[in-house]
Amino acid sequence: MIRLKGKLTVISFLELTLELSKATDLVSPELNNHQRLVAFITYNLGEELNLTRKQQNNLSVAAILHDIGGLSMQERLDVLKFDALNPHKHAKIGWMLLKDYREFAEAAKIIKFHHVDWDYGRGIKKDGEDVPLESHLVHLADRIATLISNKEKPFNQAERIYARIEDASGKKFNPEFIKAFKHIKDKEYFWFDLESISSGGNYD
Ligand SMILES: [Fe+2]
Ligand SMILES: [Fe+2]
Repeated sequence: MIRLKGKLTVISFLELTLELSKATDLVSPELNNHQRLVAFITYNLGEELNLTRKQQNNLSVAAILHDIGGLSMQERLDVLKFDALNPHKHAKIGWMLLKDYREFAEAAKIIKFHHVDWDYGRGIKKDGEDVPLESHLVHLADRIATLISNKEKPFNQAERIYARIEDASGKKFNPEFIKAFKHIKDKEYFWFDLESISSGGNYD
C-alpha cells in the first residue's frame, strides 16, 4: 500500500500503476490502451515461458508503464511504428522517472532496455550494461502490439503478425521468445481477449 503524504487516501500499488499507465496512454487516442495491450501480451508470453511469479510481477509493472518516458505526443506515436527510429531516448527517460522508487526499481531496469534488439545474442549487453531478458520480452510484446491493425479483427491478423515477427527472429527478437509466441498465436482466446483490451475493455 502507498500512503500519499498529508492525505488520508490509501491506494494500492496496483491501482497506482494502472492509473499511471492510463494517464500516459491518454496522450493520444491512437495509443489505444497500448501499454495495457503490451502488458497482456507480455504476461501471456511469460506464462508460456514458465516465468516465476516474481518475474511476472516485475514484468507486468514494466510492461504497463514501458512508454512512460515518451513525454511528447510525437515521440509516443513514433515508437508505434514497427521499425521505430531512435527509440532508446524514451526508454531511458522512463528508467530515470521510476528507478528511485523502491516499488518500481526492478521494472525501471526492464524499461530502460525495452527497445534493444536481440542482435543474435549481442543484445544481452548495451553500452557495457547487462540487459535483462525481461526487456527482450517486453520488446517482443511491444512490437507485436504495433503490428495489430484496428481495421480487422485481431484473430484474423494472427498469421500475418506472426510471419512478420518470425522474419525478424534472431535479429530483433530472441528466437526462444518467438517460439512462445508461436504457441500463443494459435489460441483463439488470446486474440479475443486482446481485442477486448484494444477496444477499451478492462481486465483489472
Ligand atoms: Fe517504447
Ligand atoms: Fe510501446
